[in-house]
Amino acid sequence: MCGIIAFVGKEDGRKFVLEGLKKLDYRGYDSWGIAGVNNDELWHYKTTGLVKTELIGKESHIIIGHTRWCTHGKVTKENAHPHVSNDEKIAAVHNGIIDNYLELKEMLEKEGYKFYSDTDTEVIPNLISYYTNKNPEKNFIEGFKQTIKQLKGSFAIAALHEKTLAFARVNSPLLIGVAEGEIYIASDAAPFLEKTNKAVFLNEGDWGYYEKGNMYLFDKNEKPIEAKTEEIHWQYNEQGKNGYSHFMLKEIYEQVNTIVNAAAQPNIQNAKDEIKKFSEILLVGSGTSYNACLAGASFLSKKNIKAIPVLASEYQLHVPFFDKEKIMIIVSQSGETADLIEVVNEAKNAGMKIIGIINVPGSTLWRKSDILLGMNAGQEIGVASTKAYTSTLTIFSLLAGEKIDETELSKYTNEKIKEWHEQAKELIQKIKKDLFVIGKEEALSYAMETALKVKEISYIRAEGLAAGELKHGTLALIEEDVPVISIATKETRQDLINNALEIKSRGGFIIGIDSKTHPCYDYFISCKYPILSIIPGQLLAYELAISKGYNPDKPRNLAKSVTVK
Ligand code: AGP
Repeated sequence: MCGIIAFVGKEDGRKFVLEGLKKLDYRGYDSWGIAGVNNDELWHYKTTGLVKTELIGKESHIIIGHTRWCTHGKVTKENAHPHVSNDEKIAAVHNGIIDNYLELKEMLEKEGYKFYSDTDTEVIPNLISYYTNKNPEKNFIEGFKQTIKQLKGSFAIAALHEKTLAFARVNSPLLIGVAEGEIYIASDAAPFLEKTNKAVFLNEGDWGYYEKGNMYLFDKNEKPIEAKTEEIHWQYNEQGKNGYSHFMLKEIYEQVNTIVNAAAQPNIQNAKDEIKKFSEILLVGSGTSYNACLAGASFLSKKNIKAIPVLASEYQLHVPFFDKEKIMIIVSQSGETADLIEVVNEAKNAGMKIIGIINVPGSTLWRKSDILLGMNAGQEIGVASTKAYTSTLTIFSLLAGEKIDETELSKYTNEKIKEWHEQAKELIQKIKKDLFVIGKEEALSYAMETALKVKEISYIRAEGLAAGELKHGTLALIEEDVPVISIATKETRQDLINNALEIKSRGGFIIGIDSKTHPCYDYFISCKYPILSIIPGQLLAYELAISKGYNPDKPRNLAKSVTVK
């Protein structure tokens, strides 16, 4: 989703900010812009489409940039950030959503302010301008402070005025990279890691400003706080696609190693010991991460550990039962998913402990976790999550006490992945309009995840469902040649075959992912480790997207880091 990068330093910051915006583009965006100050004069540039790194504007030592993923208003130049105050003295970029922007806009309109976009963000520079002009010293920081007090919702903001850069964070990530003579304010560390791995992480409600070579930080109660720098141990993707045509394909192939990395993370025993102290575990995530929770719940329940999967966006049903007797395991690749952050805040208020299975170090959810189980998958750039899913499955298996021979698993993946890829290329002929994917127990997770992959990057309607549910409705959609992928595990094989036969007798085309073949399969994909049975589906989704001419790394309407609710 939207990305922020801001720079203050002795050099001209335009190159850094433009290249920084490029490094943020993995988050997904539709328009972009920058604003800087030259001789105390504000200039800005914004446009739709892809970031271009040719220098624009004027030399500036203080500069802000933004990539926008639209929420309020269409993809237009006017709606792109930065937004500038009517007097053209203040520019601001914003991530998140201002819930009360309509009432603020109305108030400002009554004061004579004009608005030129459909965004919620445009109120920000104008409100800062309003409060700046209202105070006797015409002090920008005073105006900024009054503004953030008025805003409701979620926001990470960077605003500039003459030689001052102000910033604030409420329910949307923002951190400060610190290097010799320069600072960088950003929504994640990707744009500045080449310059420094030292960063100050802002907490909820923190705000501050940089002026005349000094940084001032405050908490939500306006109490000055110390700028504590931490080191970020994280490699952003410097090596590019490494010879693969897309990041997604590279990340699918990387699973040969990432499974091993996930198993190597050191906190499993600690987390297992902790889990034993509680009567129930809630496993919470969104999208792919929720699908991983479905498998996790199955692994744990089979070991008599009560584990309930919860969709982060539907957590409200569970809130009345949040209490200290339960523990929560959260799963998030980005560590920034707004739906999940809300659940965690509620759980913490109820005194619950949080175990985080998170990929991005230093992310909001990483920092909110009491016990961390790092996925160790390295940066995932493709919007469609792939390696993070199998890393999470590996961690859940270990938490459930399974003995995983990760070296063997990795060797097997390496042997099979090219074969699965070739099969995916053959199978795309069979999948035109609709696809159904069935599974049972943990393989319900694999079925849902296969369908999600196909939907999000090939735009083919795909439904993942519990095999036993077919006869309760979906069977009505099965007719001649409708493709159905059936994912079997040792325990569920017989049931799955029975369901597959019901489909076959109605003309369906059965693609079996199984440890051994069966006469009911029209097409057989052999996979002896069920937790790998998502990989053929990932490759199928990828090849479907390619065959239709879509870019699998950047599916329409979706973003990598879903920081709004
Ligand atoms: C997966 O392919 C999707 N891009 C999406 O469902 C994603 O898994 C979801 O938004 C949760 O993200 P997170 O793991 O970063 O919290």
